[in-house]
Amino acid sequence: MEKERKNAMEMGKEKKTKNKESPKEKSWRTLSVSKRQTYKVKDIRLAHSGANQLAWAEAHMPALIAIRDEYKRSKPLEGLRIAAALHVTKETGVLARTLKTMGAELYLTASNPMSTQDDVAAILASEGIHVFAWKGETDKEYYDNLKRVLESKPNLIIDDGGDLHIALHEVYKNIKLIGGTEETTTGVNRLKALQKAGLMRYPIISVNDANTKYLFDNRYGTGQSTIDGILRSTNVLIAGKCAVVVGYGWVGRGIAMRFHGLGARVIVTEINPFRALEALMDGFDVMPISKAAPMGDIFVTATGNKNVIPISVINKMKDGAILANSGHFDVEIDVNSLKNTSSSVKTIRQYLDEYTLKNKHKIYLLAEGRLVNLGAAEGHPSEVMDLSFSNQALSILYLVNNKLPPNLYNVLGEIDEKVARLKLSGIGISIDSVSEEQERYMSGWKMGT
Ligand code: ADE
Repeated sequence: MEKERKNAMEMGKEKKTKNKESPKEKSWRTLSVSKRQTYKVKDIRLAHSGANQLAWAEAHMPALIAIRDEYKRSKPLEGLRIAAALHVTKETGVLARTLKTMGAELYLTASNPMSTQDDVAAILASEGIHVFAWKGETDKEYYDNLKRVLESKPNLIIDDGGDLHIALHEVYKNIKLIGGTEETTTGVNRLKALQKAGLMRYPIISVNDANTKYLFDNRYGTGQSTIDGILRSTNVLIAGKCAVVVGYGWVGRGIAMRFHGLGARVIVTEINPFRALEALMDGFDVMPISKAAPMGDIFVTATGNKNVIPISVINKMKDGAILANSGHFDVEIDVNSLKNTSSSVKTIRQYLDEYTLKNKHKIYLLAEGRLVNLGAAEGHPSEVMDLSFSNQALSILYLVNNKLPPNLYNVLGEIDEKVARLKLSGIGISIDSVSEEQERYMSGWKMGT
């Protein structure tokens, strides 16, 4: 998989040096609203719908709007180019507008071929953001678009999943960067491996590890939006079903919690003994996936690892079982073997494909095994992305204001706390503060029984 990704980037690069654009390739340039500006979106006429989407999202993202207001006059990102690979949703639109208001020139592409909201891409393009993204990109188009944003020679990177960062370490090694950020667990795992190998060439802040990110986005955001994707693609009743959640990290915890809330019986499968114990004490059944296979009605993967539902497990599932993936990459369910060993495949409705196994059981795969919350629904609601993207904006600013050596960093504690406080005040909640006496008590050792 990694090799395929690298090859795709190399292929894209080679093509560019030959510089032979077909008339079709040229056509997107004619969409430019000014000579300098370029973009490639599905249909620029969708901009009016995108404008409404962004207005709706902005009304639910008070923390990010407060940051936009704080820096709109000083424009601390003036003169800097940012390349971003993010799911191009209305929430990303609010971040893009914020970074632009802070002075940056933004090159934006999708972090998944299925997750772009075309009307959002259109409004951003019409506002002067260089967007190269549309829903349903082929793998080649996806990599070509990554290449396009990198060829802007960015000063800063915002990534979701690590594809930009890895390309900058393997292919685009000459681009000098101030630094970058990473949004998600899968991307951070890839960067940790890079760091361990001593290969990091610029500082990267793991936004994923901020309290105001993983506790809310990974848990409540993915929890709700995964159910949303399952409902939009199937409209099945969750109550009374047996839901199998594969992986009990923050995402798995959120999904299990929401399944339970809707009346499902929940089974959790894990490889980590602490998480397995936690799932048990949270009230869920815990067992190996092979044992859960014939019991589940709906299976959701949330591990970040590959082949956690192999074909041997699929073959044990009951007739009618539904399979969905909520991990960043489409590697968690063995979709290739499912395709190759099924006697027939039929699309029932959008994002719902029926595979008939040799044993005649019908298995229903959602969103082709790609992340179901963004493939079949709209991703996390604006309220949680407000937190994640406030961390993104402030971490980018931190990188610009502080020269850091190449390494993987956590979000600064003060930034994390500022985001939490901005959010609370944005939704009209005030909290208590510690008194001097309490402060002394908490920081001393003398006072006992
Ligand atoms: N990741 C998950 N949900 C998202 C959203 N709504 N926008 C951008 N990235 C996301």
